Amino acid sequence: MRTTILDLQKMKRNRQRIPMVTAYDATGAHWVESAGIPAILVGDSLGMVVQGHETTVPVTLDEMIYHARLVVRGTKKALIIQDLPFMTYQISHEQALANAARAMQEGGVGAVKMEGGVRIAQTVAEIVSVGIPVMGHVGLTPQSVHQIGGWRLQGRDSDSAAHVLDDALAIQEAGAFAIVLEKIPAPLAKTITEKLHIPTIGIGAGPYCDGQIQVFHDLLGLFDEFVPRHTKQYATLGQAMETAFHSYIAEVENGQFPDAEHSFGMEESSPTTLYGNGKQ
Ligand code: KIV
Repeated sequence: MRTTILDLQKMKRNRQRIPMVTAYDATGAHWVESAGIPAILVGDSLGMVVQGHETTVPVTLDEMIYHARLVVRGTKKALIIQDLPFMTYQISHEQALANAARAMQEGGVGAVKMEGGVRIAQTVAEIVSVGIPVMGHVGLTPQSVHQIGGWRLQGRDSDSAAHVLDDALAIQEAGAFAIVLEKIPAPLAKTITEKLHIPTIGIGAGPYCDGQIQVFHDLLGLFDEFVPRHTKQYATLGQAMETAFHSYIAEVENGQFPDAEHSFGMEESSPTTLYGNGKQ
């Protein structure tokens, strides 16, 4: 049985912190799960760290579903949550319901995540009402990066902090089971975490959230375009990969690889010369 949304809510009640990581393929998700992460997000951050876009805006629902299927296939125990990408839930409630249903049925995930607060609360309520668990996402919402004017800290002054709090309350009221708080001041995240009964999962939101989420490539040191201040690299796998490729190149070039251990022989009775003796 996979982790359920109720398990995550119980963790909040028991003051047990919730560690989350993103994943985008079966192998990555397998390692995340086998380390003991209870819930994995197939984030639309894949647009940047997998597809090489500058933002998450170009990511399509078909692409998200493709990656969600890989992650679901590579795991057995974790709750898999899939981002609904840009403009797949803003046009109408019908569009949002149909797309959330596609994520559940075609992607095989256990929940969807949507960015926004007050302005999408009614849509969230509609989706939850048909039995699809929704995770909210407020503060810095990367799908709106062009409107926000960059990857800026949100809720820095008291007016904008009040807006972020209103957004979080509206999403809880709409029936979301948990909410991501991205790039907001730690004291604001603390207030929101204390006011909400659903778990808050922070990224760049300080230490007082009920859980934390990090992007797979950031956490492992695989993405070096830029390293956000809120990212802690727990490994430098990008460098380890480059070192391994250097060794491989050198060994291919000098003939050290493949050696006998990595090559195949033939049975004793087989001819040693297959070609070139002129006989059929
Ligand atoms: O897309 C994503 O990976 C996210 C996380 C950063 C929360 O939304």
